[in-house]
Amino acid sequence: MPVAPATPAAELARLVGPEQVIVDSSITDSYVRDWTGRFVGSTPAVVRPRATDEVATVLAWCHEHGVAVVPQGGNTGLVGGGVPLEGEVVLSLRGLRSISLPEGDDRRLLAGAGATLADVGDEAARRGRAYAVDLAARATATVGGMVATNAGGLHVLRWGGTRQQLVGVEAVLADGRVLSTLRGLDKDNTGYDLPQLLCGSEGTLAVVTAALVRLRPAVRRRQVCMVGFDSVETAVDAALACCDEVPSLSAVELVLHGGVALVMDEFGLPAPLATPATAYLVIELVRTHGPATTTLSDDDLVAELASVVDRSPGVGDVAVAPSDAAAQRLWQYRELHTDAINRVGVPHKLDVTFPAGALAAAVEELPAVVGAVAPRAQVWMFGHVGDGNLHVNVTGVSAGDEAVDEAVLRYVAERGGSISAEHGIGRAKARWLHLNRSQVELDTFAAIKGALDPHRILNPNVLLR
Ligand code: MLT
Ligand code: ZN
Repeated sequence: MPVAPATPAAELARLVGPEQVIVDSSITDSYVRDWTGRFVGSTPAVVRPRATDEVATVLAWCHEHGVAVVPQGGNTGLVGGGVPLEGEVVLSLRGLRSISLPEGDDRRLLAGAGATLADVGDEAARRGRAYAVDLAARATATVGGMVATNAGGLHVLRWGGTRQQLVGVEAVLADGRVLSTLRGLDKDNTGYDLPQLLCGSEGTLAVVTAALVRLRPAVRRRQVCMVGFDSVETAVDAALACCDEVPSLSAVELVLHGGVALVMDEFGLPAPLATPATAYLVIELVRTHGPATTTLSDDDLVAELASVVDRSPGVGDVAVAPSDAAAQRLWQYRELHTDAINRVGVPHKLDVTFPAGALAAAVEELPAVVGAVAPRAQVWMFGHVGDGNLHVNVTGVSAGDEAVDEAVLRYVAERGGSISAEHGIGRAKARWLHLNRSQVELDTFAAIKGALDPHRILNPNVLLR
């Protein structure tokens, strides 16, 4: 195992140019703390390569000298997986922003790791198509980070998450060799599926420098509604009925009375419905065929939804967006949750999945589970209810106090759920990975890690810590 030199910055500057290596702490500050403010580290240098060969040069040197690296994209991660908590070098991929289309194929797009989700969406739209994964951090989340974490978001129930879009990657291995699997074929049974292995590996196996992704047909008609319910249970049941029976469904998101009230307070928004409800669903319906229109309240999409909502028990008021602007306004009550909660305090973000039958009970029981270990904590819940994915956010406990994390993650695992639905394991949940993964699985993870990164330089303090 090589011993890391005391000052890697000078050598890295010599390799890729001094302007690509930042040591000034007033600039590195934004690279060493995560978006929530819960995870704050330090670094001897932030390296900003401009191309794949510079990433390769940096990693080859780090491999040779045993220098640990944290790859970072838009730094929108929520589990401390993209910040240097043990003094690692930060390898920022934001400079790799190019986007191109493979020749003769308008159903694929090749995006550099630093391209944002918004960049990808804009380019897809210019080609008359769309990218299936969407999330609130679209302006800053990058392709590399989304591949590294297998990002999910709002439309997984319709089009799947990042894994389902990914058809190829270019990545740099720990020793600096470039791995390229960019044929982009739908059927290709020629051995191990390396893009899928790297997707969700959180920067521990290789540094993704570009991704070849599928584009789906563009949305031609869209309708957004918000429906109030008298209980979480009736809302969850209606959401599951929509998943089964509404073919045009592209999102069904759960928000609760407390979270909506917080968003209204923090952002000065009016109430979304005339009568407040205990739980709400924000529902989006789309068609990718037929004539394009703006959203209309008498659209046949509404009729499709009404056939389910009208016979769901517990339904209160319903708002149907009459225009795209109104649809955006309804989405705000869901999408502004993350920012509103951060304004209350530094959150513990516990992104989990439950089996469908356990979700409503979990929403009812989790405040008491948290209250038992942190009586003054506040619990904020919302999520992608169609996937069983609940975002449990806890404020009012110190960043380092893990009693709440322990209590919630054990509760989830005992009910057959996953301790990470879409944010990854990162640093925040590494202690509890064994709740979901057997020793044989963990040994297999360790064997793969050992084979691809024998000197443990790639994000060594996350996931398999
Ligand atoms: C979301 O669904 O809004 C994201 O996962 C971010 C969050 O959980 O705060
Ligand atoms: Zn989410």
